[in-house]
Amino acid sequence: MSSEVLDRGLVLDAVRVTEIAAIAAWKLVGRGDEKEADQAAVDAMRTALNDLDIDGEIVIGEGERDEAPMLYIGEKVGRGKGGPKIDIALDPLEGTTLTAKAMANALAVMAWAPKGTLLNAPDTYMDKIACGPGYPKGVIDLDKTPAENVQSMAEAKGVDATEITVCILDRPRHADIIASVRSVGARVYLITDGDVAGVMNTADPSTGVDLYVGQGGAPEGVLACAALKCVGGQFEGRLVFRNADEKARAKRVGITDFDRKYDLHEMVRADAIFAATGVTNGALLDGVQYEDGFVHTHTIVMNSATQTVREVRMKRPV
Ligand code: FBP
Repeated sequence: MSSEVLDRGLVLDAVRVTEIAAIAAWKLVGRGDEKEADQAAVDAMRTALNDLDIDGEIVIGEGERDEAPMLYIGEKVGRGKGGPKIDIALDPLEGTTLTAKAMANALAVMAWAPKGTLLNAPDTYMDKIACGPGYPKGVIDLDKTPAENVQSMAEAKGVDATEITVCILDRPRHADIIASVRSVGARVYLITDGDVAGVMNTADPSTGVDLYVGQGGAPEGVLACAALKCVGGQFEGRLVFRNADEKARAKRVGITDFDRKYDLHEMVRADAIFAATGVTNGALLDGVQYEDGFVHTHTIVMNSATQTVREVRMKRPV
């Protein structure tokens, strides 16, 4: 499986798709309507995907067919016949609240991998831990305490635990994690939403973030893994079920072992292309801007097969 590679020419197609979704969402930045912003991004992304010569299937999307009319799990996109067969994970607007409130770090995000190689994650929570590239395998372990992971990271980095920074979603459910991280003197970098960007922070030294820890969406976990796979980071995740309905969701997408701990390469089992375009300004990407009749976008696109990371700035007349 891991030898499968998507044609590198697809990289620019992926960029166009997230650019279009970001521009659509940007029109709703700060207008207080999460649903409308999300819908605009979904519509735009779906139209862009259906314009491509790919035989794509959504494996991580807007939800199950009965609850999401567009970009639902299992939906086929692209012109189909003859095009490359691709598993698609997407979040047309990652950070709906961030967008509605004009806050930092909203993204349009997508990952592509050869058919049958992305984890079909149900729409449940996932416990996650992640770090960037350059560390020995096993430096992070979901089964260890956050404090132990900080210590392990500090040792691998050759620094004191007080020099480690951990990104965590600011949620009451994370109180124990935050306390554990602080108990060894590490810094906590709280984010209000957007854990794909939170995980990606670990791979960008300019953010100062060493680790990502906490519980967020499982679909976002797959997207974050695709991003980290392109730069050589590490990730571990375990699905979290709050009720029987969530277990039923998992069963429907083929999950049988509810306690399984997944690593990055089990969640993204072949080489992947990942693209994210900024909707609002953030630590990693600038948001969409309009100036003198032109729209500007900023996208990061990565290909794990070649470990290539590109930043693409697009400008076109409105
Ligand atoms: P949306 O864009 O769907 O609103 O998701 C934002 C997000 O912050 C994700 O990045 C994260 O995985 C999830 O929500 C966390 O869920 P919750 O807000 O329930 O803690």
